[in-house]
Amino acid sequence: MVIGILGAGQLARMLALAGKPLGLKFIFLDPTPASCAADLGKHLIGDYTDKALLTQLAEESDIITYEFENVPVEIIDFLNANTPVYPPAKALFIGQDRITEKTFLQDLGIATASFSAVSSLEELQQAMPDIGYPAILKTRRLGYDGKGQVVLSSDQDLAEAWQAVKSAPCVVEGFVPFDREISIIASRSVSGEIVYYPLSENEHHKGILRLAKNTQNDPLQAQAENYINTILTALDYVGTIALELFAVDNNIIANEFAPRVHNSGHWTIEGSETSQFENHLRAIMDMPLGSTHSLGYAAMQNFIGNVPASNQLLSLSQVHLHLYDKAARKGRKLAHATIRTDTLKNFTDLIDSLTELAKQSDDS
Ligand SMILES: Nc1ncnc2c1ncn2[C@@H]1O[C@H](COP(=O)(O)OP(=O)(O)O)[C@@H](O)[C@H]1O
Ligand SMILES: [Mg+2]
Repeated sequence: MVIGILGAGQLARMLALAGKPLGLKFIFLDPTPASCAADLGKHLIGDYTDKALLTQLAEESDIITYEFENVPVEIIDFLNANTPVYPPAKALFIGQDRITEKTFLQDLGIATASFSAVSSLEELQQAMPDIGYPAILKTRRLGYDGKGQVVLSSDQDLAEAWQAVKSAPCVVEGFVPFDREISIIASRSVSGEIVYYPLSENEHHKGILRLAKNTQNDPLQAQAENYINTILTALDYVGTIALELFAVDNNIIANEFAPRVHNSGHWTIEGSETSQFENHLRAIMDMPLGSTHSLGYAAMQNFIGNVPASNQLLSLSQVHLHLYDKAARKGRKLAHATIRTDTLKNFTDLIDSLTELAKQSDDS
């Protein structure tokens, strides 16, 4: 079985690493010659809109998936004419625009921050009395890792913020005074089998995920599963999905979903009976899904811009290091480490050590 992947970055790399034991072969389409998944399969180097390469990808793949959500929907439709592509184009289409996404969530009865679509400075000024301060201005499309976002504290900030987003169509949303950021990851197979992972508790800094930890019997698990189940069903979804949430006073407010494997689920590689990557592959191949049971306490620390020396990290004996084989660049996700342990005390100590090492090398 050959799996085609649009994109050959670290998520594609981790999908391929999870697929090798299942006997899968991989073919990637990615314009960057030195892509970090490239040596785990065949690499078609070229643009995502290159019809000849897309045709080759479709011909050589049994099933196609993607590792990033900015794939133009027309490309999915083009590929899908010959080879099944999962997750479905509808999930991409909705997730690519923050207004469409929040409207979709609200229509399903899922709470979001208050928001308003704004496409000029005047519209932004008119929206603020309803939204209130603090607020966040975000470009509707193409944002990731906090890019294209500006925090608004008062009317004085609006003109400068509007310049900072380069007058792109935006959403302005109320700042959610969250107690915790959490995410739920789930996988749904072609036949409709669904599995849910325990909630991940996530810490961001400057809009980028730094630390993600699994939770044990979190009081918000059932509500989060209910939300993601509603989304999976509405989209007739196939594959792994992540829903980012804010926890406020024991309620949850949805932020955004990602129709793919997600950074907050990297701890599932060593921390779960079956990782989010393996379950994504099983789901799109319509195989039985694996147990999402956590093997104790598990966490993941991202390394951004720089990576501490491997020997230093591996001297912590419960650390598993995942280097993405990417050139170092400021603000770039280069690697992560996961930890898994049986005792809470050990878990907390390991997290402290990892966080400290990450801080020393972080350049953002
Ligand atoms: N309405 C909000 N209230 C509070 N914090 C927010 C809000 N929106 C975003 N953030 C913070 O910014 C981070 C990145 O925003 P997000 O909407 O997830 O964009 P991205 O697509 O860049 O991940 C969030 O994880 C959260 O920490
Ligand atoms: Mg996000």
